[in-house]
Amino acid sequence: MRTQVAIIGAGPSGLLLGALLSKAGIDNVIVEQRSADYVLGRIRAGVLEQVAVDLLDEVGIGARMHAEGLPHDGFDLCFDDRRHRIDLHGLTGKRVMVYGQTEVTRDLMDARRASGRPTVYEAADVGVHGFEGKAPGVRYVKDGARHEIQCDFIAGCDGFHGVCRASVPQDKLALHEKVYPFGWLGLLADVPPVSHELIYVNHPRGFALCSQRSRTRSRYYVQCALDDQVEHWSDDAFWAELKRRLPADTAAQLTTGPSIEKSIAPLRSFVAEPMRFGRLFLAGDAAHIVPPTGAKGLNLAATDVGYLSQSLVDYYQGHEQGIATYSERCLRRIWRAERFSWWMTSLMHRFPDNGSFDHKMQSAELDYLVNSPAAMTALAENYVGLPL
Ligand code: APR
Ligand code: PHB
Repeated sequence: MRTQVAIIGAGPSGLLLGALLSKAGIDNVIVEQRSADYVLGRIRAGVLEQVAVDLLDEVGIGARMHAEGLPHDGFDLCFDDRRHRIDLHGLTGKRVMVYGQTEVTRDLMDARRASGRPTVYEAADVGVHGFEGKAPGVRYVKDGARHEIQCDFIAGCDGFHGVCRASVPQDKLALHEKVYPFGWLGLLADVPPVSHELIYVNHPRGFALCSQRSRTRSRYYVQCALDDQVEHWSDDAFWAELKRRLPADTAAQLTTGPSIEKSIAPLRSFVAEPMRFGRLFLAGDAAHIVPPTGAKGLNLAATDVGYLSQSLVDYYQGHEQGIATYSERCLRRIWRAERFSWWMTSLMHRFPDNGSFDHKMQSAELDYLVNSPAAMTALAENYVGLPL
């Protein structure tokens, strides 16, 4: 098989890149190691910046998002048992869209299927080669048979554990990593959200987050120990712990119910530089991870592939400047999002090794934040997304 761009991974990065390239008339094939159902079964982020909304509109899949997604004009920061509203729209003129990554992925998959462009699911032993020369290729095994795709470019959209970053000579990669000493235990349930906006909570027992997927489906998180196991958390234990971290009046309004999904995610900051090696590009989680506190992961993935598709369109029109500067342009935005995600994580969590001085610093910063329009604006402009 021959194509212009071989895309590895059918997560949001790979599917959105495929849609953007297809719209520009650039031939592409997606190779994914899992099944479509498996990909859709992963519960992940839920907050879209305007730039991500615009990209989904650009590829013509925004209709369900606009009908079912919830535009949010603000969120609450909660500490010392009091909620303080951050007026995103008032401070920045922008808002965010609450719409689950699962739904974005489903919309992209439906559009992909309708387009007739090839997606190979359940591809085993995926390998990439030749990207340092002019004739890159992708090999995989499907139903026991070996296949090879010849292409002009490879897009590594295969997530943190993917094969693309791992195939780059390690002396050509600079890795920057910070692993946090806690995780998030998340629970999804068909109950109405406790508040119409998100609540980020700093509490002596640990961070908590009240999020949502719709008016009838809620997503909640509590900070947990890294070695905690989800089997040790009954639904009742989760709800009880969440209530302890909320102000009494908010806890009293919480509707509980059976979980649809419950899982523990570790928190990590990670960047691999650069993001291009000859004819191989990395995008999304393959190149970087942010802790979820700032809701930036999916948005960074979307902007990476926005830059990448534009660079490839330019290339096929005879301009190589776009692909030459792809890595640099992405990384500038990524590092700013890394900084914001690290800062918000540091501000909102209990760190096991922190003493009373560190706790006082958190309290002083939160106090400053909700009383200074300048500080609040800095938070708000990062949360809604910095300009491209
Ligand atoms: N070959 C083919 N596909 C692979 C391989 C491989 N060797 N390794 C991984 N994959 C697939 C995974 O199964 C997954 O479906 O690549 C896809 C990567 O998808 P994601 O992990 O969702 O990464 P990305 O598309 O970059 O999306 C980033 O996901 O983790 C969140 O916060 C993050 O919201 C952000 C988004
Ligand atoms: C979510 O709804 O899953 C979510 C929302 C905001 C975050 C992180 C996760 O910062």
